[in-house]
Amino acid sequence: MDTLNVDLDSRSYPILIGPDLLRDPDVFRRHVDFRDILIVSNTTVAPLYLSALEESLRPRRVVATLLPDGESHKTLSTVARIEDVLIANRFARDCAVVALGGGVVGDMAGFAAAIYQRGVAFVQVPTTLLAQVDSAVGGKTGVNHPGGKNLIGAFHQPEAVIADTRTLATLSARELRAGLAEVIKYGLICDSVFFAWLEANVEALLAGDQAALARVIRRSCEIKAAIVGQDEREHGERALLNLGHTFGHAIESATGYGQWLHGEAVAAGMVMAARMSQESGLLGAEDLERIMRLTARMDLPVRVPGLTPEVVLEHMRIDKKVQAGRIRLVLLRGIGAAFVTAEYDEGCLRRALESHLG
Ligand code: NAD
Ligand code: GLY
Repeated sequence: MDTLNVDLDSRSYPILIGPDLLRDPDVFRRHVDFRDILIVSNTTVAPLYLSALEESLRPRRVVATLLPDGESHKTLSTVARIEDVLIANRFARDCAVVALGGGVVGDMAGFAAAIYQRGVAFVQVPTTLLAQVDSAVGGKTGVNHPGGKNLIGAFHQPEAVIADTRTLATLSARELRAGLAEVIKYGLICDSVFFAWLEANVEALLAGDQAALARVIRRSCEIKAAIVGQDEREHGERALLNLGHTFGHAIESATGYGQWLHGEAVAAGMVMAARMSQESGLLGAEDLERIMRLTARMDLPVRVPGLTPEVVLEHMRIDKKVQAGRIRLVLLRGIGAAFVTAEYDEGCLRRALESHLG
């Protein structure tokens, strides 16, 4: 088992990574020290892993609630259902909410914990690659609104992240690839050596090789933990983690949540950000080519059919990163060298969209 730490003073917490952690009562004895627990999962994940988790949590009082599966259910009304269960079972302030599932379950369970009685503890047990490398770490919780992705939410750090790498064996190939998009992101923003390692290990990763996956989870969490430790509430450097996301969120909301997986939209969005960086004279053509090639080899989309630049721009304008009416974007000066800016040429943005839409 690998253990990392997110250093946030009194809100610091461990990230545990390893096979079969879900089935290890000791892990939960040490890291989930609560008597009353609400497990939040969904109808896909629960049949696979709920009973093992319940067993590991014995003899605590454990109640489970199962949400419908899918990004389209990541809404305030689903979170209200979690609150109903907490209230109906008379959970007090000293309870903990445990999220068992991917990023959708984790974001909603975390938000439900953030607002129940003004904040109760929560623990992330991520079961998708995307959640293990990204969404379970860092304390961003929330839901979508028809007007925009993740527009309603709160920062609420977990007590622990327990990433059982064995759960990835039941993940579909498409969901695994969506998680790899966020992994590519870490290489692009700050680690060109990791990016090159990914290029050399595409086949092992796509085949679900446990050692290769464990390595990418560890490296991704190291990078995310360091960035969150420096800038918990995204006043600066944390915004780098949004590379490709302003484009990606626009794709997701313009297509009504669900048609595109989050990771797929981020992959296409990162390619657009790279294209825009090249159009702006910041990124060499060779680097753009490497980024497009790795994305395509991971079987992730580099084109977005069916959307126009006008529609995507309209959705980009309601992104959380808009400041003083200006869309702030993460661009690249090279592989491993991302930066945030609101100073760019609108023509370069439009040309990047035109190159990858329609
Ligand atoms: P997801 O939660 O929808 O999970 C993907 C699918 O896999 C679902 O159908 C789920 O039921 C299923 N699944 C989960 N674990 C499984 C397993 N072990 N075996 C078989 N099936 C399994 O999607 P996701 O990609 O995990 O997360 C995407 C969400 O995360 C988006 O809503 C995105 O906005 C959010 N996100 C949040 C942050 C953050 O910092 N909070 C960061 C990145 C993404
Ligand atoms: N996924 C972006 C962040 O956690 O900041």
